[in-house]
Amino acid sequence: MNFELTDVQREIQRTIREVAAKELTPHARKWDETHAWPTDAVKMLSELSLLGVAIPEQYGGAGLDNVCYAIAVEEISRGCASTGVIVSVNNSLYCDPVMKFGTEAQKEQFLTPFARGEKLGCFGLTEPEAGSDAGAQKTVAVRRGDEYVINGSKNWITNGPKADAIVLFAMTNKEAGHKGITAFLVPTNTPGFIRAEPDKKMGISAAWSCSMFFEDMRVPAKYRLGEEGEGFKVAMSTLDGGRLGIAAQAVGIARAAYEEAVQYSGDRKSFGKPIREHQAIQFMIADMATELDAARLLVWRAALMKDKGVRHSSESAMAKLYASEMASRVTNKALQVHGGMGYSKEMDAERHVRDARITEIYEGTSEIQRIVISTHLLKE
Ligand code: CAA
Repeated sequence: MNFELTDVQREIQRTIREVAAKELTPHARKWDETHAWPTDAVKMLSELSLLGVAIPEQYGGAGLDNVCYAIAVEEISRGCASTGVIVSVNNSLYCDPVMKFGTEAQKEQFLTPFARGEKLGCFGLTEPEAGSDAGAQKTVAVRRGDEYVINGSKNWITNGPKADAIVLFAMTNKEAGHKGITAFLVPTNTPGFIRAEPDKKMGISAAWSCSMFFEDMRVPAKYRLGEEGEGFKVAMSTLDGGRLGIAAQAVGIARAAYEEAVQYSGDRKSFGKPIREHQAIQFMIADMATELDAARLLVWRAALMKDKGVRHSSESAMAKLYASEMASRVTNKALQVHGGMGYSKEMDAERHVRDARITEIYEGTSEIQRIVISTHLLKE
């Protein structure tokens, strides 16, 4: 067992940490307040090959491992949680399944420009009546000759308002339940593809999501990703990687809150001394740091397993479950360390609480992660 990062992993960490401190942290509050999509930041990160971190260079990615990917998402989210999820969705929910299940022709059209960051991808699984119960898809794809005609809707699609293509899930055989779901690659300029206005949310306000509707949308059969009926497995195995990204995002958000609380505890005085000299604050700092390290180790374990090609559904679920709930605890403690100022929009502590909360919900709620983990533990 080795807890040391490789030279490459350390260099990635150092580089992105510096970039995030300079280009993300100073703007994150303003982007949150104005709900501004971080166009320049995403462009800058794509120039650093961070939109396809673990995608091979021949398909436009950085050709790095999944530990580097987790490090990248943590560091980016340390600077701006919204930018973190934009990058995570393109990497693990969009590029990853195209890499894993796509044909060479599909990779040329639907992977290379996206891993390079010239185009942006999103992932269309969630529906109004198929959130946690992802197998209950109502969107329907009917084969007509060389095409599928798709009708239905999706909601809460992160990157949806900006995406150039979507990995879309639809029922091709309603009677077959989850075995009747098929995945498709669909350019968002396809006639019949309609996007609603960006959603109004509690946090990650600069990462836009939206509902979308498909009205007699004709998709060439060559855009089907994998075989008919394989879609649920495409979705679930993709989420094994996606949950790792969200866990890394949660660690990044919590680290931002923790580091700012440590800083503030040295500046703020009460009862004649800096508050960090009170044991109440020292204990909070100790708890925050311990939980952060524990979460990061879970994230890196899942990433290492992914790199080894070992199934990591349960380990990714554990990482996401622990890291997301940790992020809520740590960001709330950090707000408490700030006292009244923590509740003020003049500081970032309240934003971190709002940003952390979604990590317990998207890419599978904490309850779903517990189902995935216990199913794995209890199977004979
Ligand atoms: N990899 C490969 N195959 C898998 C798998 C995985 N990780 N997980 C399940 N499967 C397979 C099973 O082996 C099974 O195969 P067979 O039928 O051949 O035996 C099949 O899929 C069905 O599995 P289950 O019986 O476990 O399926 P279920 O209907 O009980 O659902 C669930 C399981 C875990 C609850 C699942 O529905 C789930 O994960 N729900 C949450 C959905 C979710 O995370 N949505 C997030 C949307 S994306 C998002 O949020 C993006 C964003 O905004 C950032």
